[in-house]
Amino acid sequence: MQAREKAQALYSQFKVGSALLATDGRVFTGCNLESSSYGLTICSERVALFKALSEGAKEFVRIVVVADTEELTAPCGACRQVMWDFCGDIEVVMANLRGGSKTVRLCQLFPHPFGSHLF
Ligand code: THU
Repeated sequence: MQAREKAQALYSQFKVGSALLATDGRVFTGCNLESSSYGLTICSERVALFKALSEGAKEFVRIVVVADTEELTAPCGACRQVMWDFCGDIEVVMANLRGGSKTVRLCQLFPHPFGSHLF
């Protein structure tokens, strides 16, 4: 929730925060950052993950994704692919600001992944 407050969502007004737990105990947070050239926007999940990877974290336990929605916000397709590539079948906790949450595994959100196992 604290990470979400840092979001720069000038165009959508849709703030998202993430916290990614690595197996070494470190937690990496992220928020969405929107560009005036909309396609250059990056989601909170990938900010958290790229921060973690760039700090040397290699294995992950779970990611929490928080948005201010009644229906819980699930990671977008691009983030599902990138999380699969770098995290494998981690837990994904979707939560809102009202205490609602649901935990699934990434393979439930992304059941037929493309990946390096294919080539
Ligand atoms: N967004 C995220 O950061 N994570 C998600 O899981 C869904 C979408 C962001 C991208 C964009 O800045 C805004 O939410 C609206 O799509």
